[in-house]
Amino acid sequence: MNGIENLTRPAGSPRSPDSVPTLTVAELEADPHGVFRAWRPRLPFVGHEVAGVLVLRSRDVDLLMRDHRAQATETLYPESRAIPDGTLFDIFAHGMLTANGSAHRRRRSPFTRTFAARLVEGLRPQIRAAAENLVRDWLEEGEVDLVERYTALIPAQTIADILGLPRDDIPRFTQLAYEVSRVLSFTFGPEDIPDLEAAAVALQDYVAAILEARRSAPQDDFLTRFLAEAEAAGELTPQEVVIQLVQLIIGGTDTTRVAGAMQVALLLQHPEQWAAVSGDPSLIPAAVAESLRYEPSVGSAGRVAREDIGLDGHVVPAGSLMLLSTLSALRDEAVYAHPGTFDIRRTDLPRLHPIFGGGAHRCIGEALARIELEEGLGVLLRLAPRLHLTDAMPVLRGHSGIRRIDALRVAA
Ligand code: HEM
Repeated sequence: MNGIENLTRPAGSPRSPDSVPTLTVAELEADPHGVFRAWRPRLPFVGHEVAGVLVLRSRDVDLLMRDHRAQATETLYPESRAIPDGTLFDIFAHGMLTANGSAHRRRRSPFTRTFAARLVEGLRPQIRAAAENLVRDWLEEGEVDLVERYTALIPAQTIADILGLPRDDIPRFTQLAYEVSRVLSFTFGPEDIPDLEAAAVALQDYVAAILEARRSAPQDDFLTRFLAEAEAAGELTPQEVVIQLVQLIIGGTDTTRVAGAMQVALLLQHPEQWAAVSGDPSLIPAAVAESLRYEPSVGSAGRVAREDIGLDGHVVPAGSLMLLSTLSALRDEAVYAHPGTFDIRRTDLPRLHPIFGGGAHRCIGEALARIELEEGLGVLLRLAPRLHLTDAMPVLRGHSGIRRIDALRVAA
């Protein structure tokens, strides 16, 4: 049974949990870490001005990622944001991220083999070589924006190569993906919806055109094999095929661009840790993991409560849209010693990093993201060991969804 069919209350307007405050988007955006630090010891969740509730504690976030009482949101989120139809709506209606049960399995399964850790590991040398070429492009230039010239391009080139998209298309499809991903934030208003919708339509049309070209001229690449398998199995509708690829492009570009920039910025802000990793590259995976904990590029995962859910004596009412706050959970003092300290040598990070979620929806691109982040950092440490910030430390903004970063100005 579809988990949310039998819900009676619309998202965002459940019985309001009396005993918890409702926080505004403005205060959450202004200082998410500060707000969560203040509330987390006192309450398992707080109300959210738009989204229902924000679940704050690591144990609860982890539990609810895999609990049958917390379901993927299907179309509840766009409906609650005044997006009742159109292409943006379709991304939620037909994509794997927001699907439950057999629809989710059907949409996800064509990708699981391709993105399996052992297969993705084979891409490491190619990703390293691409990163080296990118660094050589700007090494002699003086000051550059590392986001634009490096951390955005590593995931964009990788996903382009996997899907067989022309490299010249990168500026177009990445800009569209960044724009569409804003729909998961709470910082857009009704006046922004036409722009978001236009970007969604353009990205969908772009993917549909690429697929059509592949159908008429098959190649020896992932996309051709994926199309053949999807069509032979007859399990995905043509619209589902397009939308899973749209989600892959969004999930595979913006998240890793932001994480790649933030890990460099954090290490440069802590020169002794930059020097330590530089002297001992075996610390690179730990540096990547700690950066993802300290300033995660994904702030939350959305779910809906299928039934009343009790958390430490408080009840999340059935029908509530829940934001499981990875941002808050990753600084939970019940799990991490000195959570507000950036420390690549910490030993309290779980083996399965919580930033990639849990349960049926755990990130499909985790292994790929880790390789991109590790190689992106390793190449910089080798080719640009004297890299330094030439402007203020960038701020990672946003309390939910995919977070946002501006420029990261550095010189080698
Ligand atoms: C640092 C980088 C990344 C982070 C922090 C991240 C985080 C996440 C999280 C938290 C989820 C689960 C969301 C939920 O449960 O609602 C997720 C799902 C997903 N991610 Fe990632 N991700 C990253 C990189 C990637 C990459 C590189 C790809 C693709 C190549 C990707 C594709 C996806 C897809 C398709 C899903 C949906 C899976 C499903 O619903 O079954 N992600 N990601």
